[in-house]
Amino acid sequence: MDSTPSPTPALLGGEPAHTGPWPAWPVHDERERNALLAVLDSGKWWYGERVREFEEKFAAFQDARFGITCTNGTAALELALIGAGIGAGMEVIVPPYTFVATATAVLKANAVPVFVDIELDTLNLDAGQVEAAVTDKTAAVMPVHFGGLPADMDRIGEIARRRGLKVIEDSAHGWGSKWRGKGCGALGDAGGFSFQQSKNITSAEGGIILTDDPDLADTIRSLSNVGRGKDKPWYEHYLTGGNYRMTEFQAALLLAQLTRLPEQTALRARNAAILNQGLAGIEGLRTLREDPRANPRSYHLYGFRIVAEEFGLTRERFVEALRAEGVPCGPGYPHPLYRNPLFQRKGTGPAYCPVSCPYYGREMDYTSVVCPNAERACREVVWFSQTMLLAGEEDMRAIVAAVRKIRGSAARLC
Ligand SMILES: Cc1ncc(COP(=O)(O)O)c(C=O)c1O
Repeated sequence: MDSTPSPTPALLGGEPAHTGPWPAWPVHDERERNALLAVLDSGKWWYGERVREFEEKFAAFQDARFGITCTNGTAALELALIGAGIGAGMEVIVPPYTFVATATAVLKANAVPVFVDIELDTLNLDAGQVEAAVTDKTAAVMPVHFGGLPADMDRIGEIARRRGLKVIEDSAHGWGSKWRGKGCGALGDAGGFSFQQSKNITSAEGGIILTDDPDLADTIRSLSNVGRGKDKPWYEHYLTGGNYRMTEFQAALLLAQLTRLPEQTALRARNAAILNQGLAGIEGLRTLREDPRANPRSYHLYGFRIVAEEFGLTRERFVEALRAEGVPCGPGYPHPLYRNPLFQRKGTGPAYCPVSCPYYGREMDYTSVVCPNAERACREVVWFSQTMLLAGEEDMRAIVAAVRKIRGSAARLC
């Protein structure tokens, strides 16, 4: 750090580093308006040609052969797992630093989530720790492409092939991300995406499952459409499916949103690069590691870590100070998933199945699980939402200036 006195932080009465609004979300224009009105006026609101068109376009966009839409990303993960044959008595390896659906989808499939720690510098499942967690019950691994950065699919794929595991990608943040030139969600057996309101392409709620496997695609289609068979009579049901169908309104919105996605993805990446460069080298702040194999990559979140002892401020005080500078940010997940009441035996469930049931034949006790990197990430990570990365270069420079100002005044702020 140089010895020039830092300007006064906004929290102590100084001028905020950023004034004015950040980009609004969702982004929409005549494309969405006209598409929605066209559905309205057509009278065909239900699971039809627009849903099919979006499934084909999105699958092609992510380099997958098949796409099956559904109600949301949570359902997408459940359908992908159940469709891939995951069920009672099986274990699925998941990271603990993610949204709860990653793990509850496994429980909904009647299987047992096994938490394996993340890498602190990517926030993704640590592929180097996966193999040690494989047991005779392990049936699948479910990496999350956290914030849009693909997990190490080389190592995860290699372990899965060697140990006979399915790979179900939680690609909820993976729209537009590729790993070695192939789209996320098309890298394993199946991948699930979310189109919830905060996501980079949205229909308020919605999801899709991608796969290259035609049989799996038919199974997932059937599961999502009350167990109907392909080209079979309407009231003949083959599987214990549910109604997870998407509407034409949602598909119309998504088709419009998809036209904007590549350009927005590129803009977010350019802005993230400015942040990476500007925030690098600030004492006590750790930017996340990029991976040249992940190109392009989406940014659903831009994350970094504040190491309180080195930065001179707690992460909470940092967040407070940065917000005062006019830079919205959040501290991310408060605890790894296994610390939720659901896993700490404070939740309810029929005899606590499937994690403790005769079918499993083992007793999973999450109260003794500790993943040190996930714990640390929950104490140190700060996030910006994807919407901020749609702002201008000057806004990114203001973020960097704000962070540097706070670092320079840490002693006065703590
Ligand atoms: C990593 C991850 N997986 C799954 C989901 C579930 O998606 P949805 O909210 O569409 O059910 C989310 C949603 O935030 C998520 O962030």
